[in-house]
Order: sequence, then C-alpha cells, then structure tokens
Amino acid sequence: MAEPFADLLKESAIFVNRDALSPHFMPDHLLFRDKQISSIVKALTPSLKGERGRNLFIYGKTGTGKTSSVKYVIDEVKKLVTVKAKISYVNCRIYNSRYRVLSKIISDHLPNYAKRGYGLVDIYERLMNWVEEDGKVLIVVLDEIDMVKDLDDLIYTLTRANSDIKSGGITIVGVSNKISFKEELDPRSLSTLYETELVFPPYNSNELLAIMQQRVALGLKQNVIEQAALNLAAAISARESGDARFALKILSRAAEISDEKRLNRITTKEVEEASKSAEEEIAYELVSTLPEHQKLVIYAIALLTMQGSRYKKLTEGTETYLFSGEVYDKYAAISNSLSKEPKSSRWYRKYISDLEMQGLINTYESGKGIRGHTKLIKLAYSPEKIKGTVENGLFKESEAEGKAQAQE
Ligand SMILES: Nc1ncnc2c1ncn2[C@@H]1O[C@H](COP(=O)(O)OP(=O)(O)OP(=O)(O)O)[C@@H](O)[C@H]1O
Ligand SMILES: [Mg+2]
Repeated sequence: MAEPFADLLKESAIFVNRDALSPHFMPDHLLFRDKQISSIVKALTPSLKGERGRNLFIYGKTGTGKTSSVKYVIDEVKKLVTVKAKISYVNCRIYNSRYRVLSKIISDHLPNYAKRGYGLVDIYERLMNWVEEDGKVLIVVLDEIDMVKDLDDLIYTLTRANSDIKSGGITIVGVSNKISFKEELDPRSLSTLYETELVFPPYNSNELLAIMQQRVALGLKQNVIEQAALNLAAAISARESGDARFALKILSRAAEISDEKRLNRITTKEVEEASKSAEEEIAYELVSTLPEHQKLVIYAIALLTMQGSRYKKLTEGTETYLFSGEVYDKYAAISNSLSKEPKSSRWYRKYISDLEMQGLINTYESGKGIRGHTKLIKLAYSPEKIKGTVENGLFKESEAEGKAQAQE
C-alpha cells in the first residue's frame, strides 16, 4: 500500500465537529429547562445577596439535564464577581467521602493550603475561618450526592458549620438520580437537604428531537441525517427513559457507523444498530456507578443467572428467571464474604425496585402455585458483562479507598 493513511485522512462526509455530538459537550443554550434554571437561581438568590439560603435538592432520572442546568447556573454565578457568594461544584462520583468533599472545596478556594494534605479537623477549621472572615456564603453543589459513602456525616458537618460560625454560611445543593436514596438518609440529614426540592422530568420525544437537532446543526454536515432516522432515535430514547444522554449517544454512534462505512447518509438502519450498542454501554455505566449494596445485588443476580436458577422448572428455554429469595441469599452470602453487613430484606426490596427502575432487571409476580406469591427476577443484560463491570468497579474502589485512608 503506497499511502496507508490516505483513506483515514480523507475528509469525513458526515462530521463537521465530532465533539458537538458528545454527551460531554455543553451547548450554549439548554432547551426546555428555563423553568428549572430559574428555580435554581431563585433558590440561590439569598446566597448571592450574602444571606444563607435554603438548601436545595434536585432529583430527576438520568439524562434529564440536571448537571447541565446546575453548571449553567454556576457559570452565571461566577460571572458576578462582586458577590460574597463562593461556589464549589463537587462531583461526588470522584469525591465520594466527607474528607474528599471538604478537601475538594478547600482546594477550590485555598489552593495553597490544600496542597499540604491536612487531616479532616484542620481542613474544617480552615474552611470555617475562611467563610467567617468576611461573612462569605459558600454554596456547595454536591452532584451525584448519593455516591458519598458517609453522607450523613458530611451533611451533619456542613450543617453544623452554620451554627459554629458567627458570620456567613453554607448552602447545600444536592443532585441525584436515585429514588431510594432519600429513604436511606438519616431523618435529620433528610430534612436538612430537602428544604426545597426540584424535580427534573424526563424529556418527551419532541423535546429529545429538538435537543438532537441542536447538536446536529453544530456537529454534522448539512442534510446527512434523514429526518426518519432522527425521529426514530427520539422515539427510542423517549420510550426507554426520556434520557437526553442516551439520545445523543445513539445519534453520535449512528454518525460514527456511517462515517466508518464511508457512507454519506445516516439512515434508520444506522440508528437501529447504534441503539443496540448504546443500550448495552449505558447499562455498564449504570452498573459501575450503583451504590455499593445495589452493586452487590446485581452481582448476585449475574452470578445466579450464569449458574442457572435452583428452580429448574423456570429455566426451561433460554430465559433464566430467579426467585427473589434466592437472590437475597446470594447477595447476603457475597456481602458476608466481603466482610460487609448485608442490608435487611426491606432494603433489598427497595434495591430491586431501583434496579428495575433503571432498566437493569425485569421483575414479574410468579402468580399462585410457585411457592405462593413471589417475585421473579430476570437480568436485562449479559450476565458475564455485568459481572465483569462489578468486579472491575469493586476492585478499583477498594484500592482507591486504601490510598484515601492512608491520607486521612
Ligand atoms: N435541555 C437540554 N438541552 C440540550 N442538551 C441537553 C439538555 N439536557 C441534557 N442535555 C444533554 O444531555 C446530556 C446529559 O445531560 P446531564 O448530564 O445534564 O444529565 P443529568 O440529569 O445530570 O444525568 P445524570 O443523572 O445521569 O447525571 C448532556 O450531554 C447534555 O448536554
Ligand atoms: Mg448528572
């Protein structure tokens, strides 16, 4: 081959700007979120005036624009250079303990201090002095707040700060897409966090269509995507979950497929192909960000699915249905083997309904006859892949934990 790169370097017939289709891309204008954005602004207005505002809790399913809206407001706040309000955005998927969150906040505002690696008490005191010295109001945005392992301690610490300091204050904005999270909180944390609540509804297919069109205009060459293909992507995403990230994932993947095949159109065929693989990928992302015990429950389901249910009658054919009870037993055994206390069966039932809400499993009532009424559970994705994802996550986490503890 004379010019091995010639083909690869040929200009794409599909893309103008690939990045514009990425879910990480932040459009200048967020569609359909004016109401939510103004609610966030309203909640933060007292803080901007130097008064401690009410805490805000934002809930909505994945891909409903929570992070984008919050970041949009933060950028606007940061432009108001005169205000005493200081803001920290914390992605709790990364900063997932009280110590890490406080360290992150201090490194945002006192970067020199932060470098020295102090312990929790020192960080807390330094932070409080800093807030107090000229009556600042610190707004702490905790995105994916459900990922914080010692959340009750964190909320307690941040709330207590308000009574410890003589001037200024701290306002908390929590963001989450987990419903059962609310019930796991200590009642005191709950009432602190939920002073005001804001819900982000899922997008319908027209809204998803408009969100995709906004990106198509930025990222693709003119008229390369068929209207029918866009409509299909919107319909699939609306039916799945009303998740804009999913819609964008299908869109960008379909575009990649056309580009790789050197086509000059994106049709419903590429969208169909893309939606299958996007669905799988999202499932693995979801699994890797589940709270620990939900992760263990889905792990138990994956292992049992690979082994086959003890109740052979139900595993005829290709589908494996598991009994809720056997899944619980397996979950408890796995927890014990990792020296973790298994949660009660009441919690377990909540986890199951959460996993179902996220589309990772399906459940059915067994009807009479099979051991009375019981719930049957079926994994919605490949058990091998789910197992691999959990093992990966757990391994990495315990390693990171070791490092963090060495620091604390
Ligand atoms: N209203 C919107 N207009 C334009 N793009 C949007 C809108 N809402 C979401 N998006 C895009 O969809 C993607 C996902 O949105 P975002 O990260 O804000 O969702 P989220 O609610 O925080 O989800 P999760 O709960 O999974 O964190 C981003 O790429 C974002 O740019
Ligand atoms: Mg988010």
